[in-house]
Amino acid sequence: MLLDVSQIPKVALDRMNRVHEEEINLLNQLFEAIDQGKDINEIERLFKAFVEDVKKHFSSEQEMMEQFNFFAYPMHRGEHDMVLGQLTNLEKKWEKEKNPELIKAYIENEFLPWLMNHIQTMDTVTAHFLSHFIRD
Ligand SMILES: [Fe+2]
Ligand SMILES: [Fe+2]
Repeated sequence: MLLDVSQIPKVALDRMNRVHEEEINLLNQLFEAIDQGKDINEIERLFKAFVEDVKKHFSSEQEMMEQFNFFAYPMHRGEHDMVLGQLTNLEKKWEKEKNPELIKAYIENEFLPWLMNHIQTMDTVTAHFLSHFIRD
């Protein structure tokens, strides 16, 4: 397992916490499939599911920030866009090389450390702000 869901920092909105937990579940499945040397099609299926989940995760936060005019929306969105750019590059490399180690290295060295930091900073501030308007 890459990360136990109990280790994800909690923010003030449960709907955001649930999205983060679901994402880590998908990430763990992908990571384990690579670790266990599962076949390329299975890894590809899990990788695509993960990328789709990240897109949904980011757009769900962005919709709430837009709806309630969150003051740091451009900054928060900028971090999301940076990661979406990295994932697009990774997908292109994957199409060429189909090398699971590339995905594994990205998850371990880039995505997971980024996500933990992002939740503790941007998502925490955003959830605190939104919790004044949204009850969940
Ligand atoms: Fe988030
Ligand atoms: Fe975020």
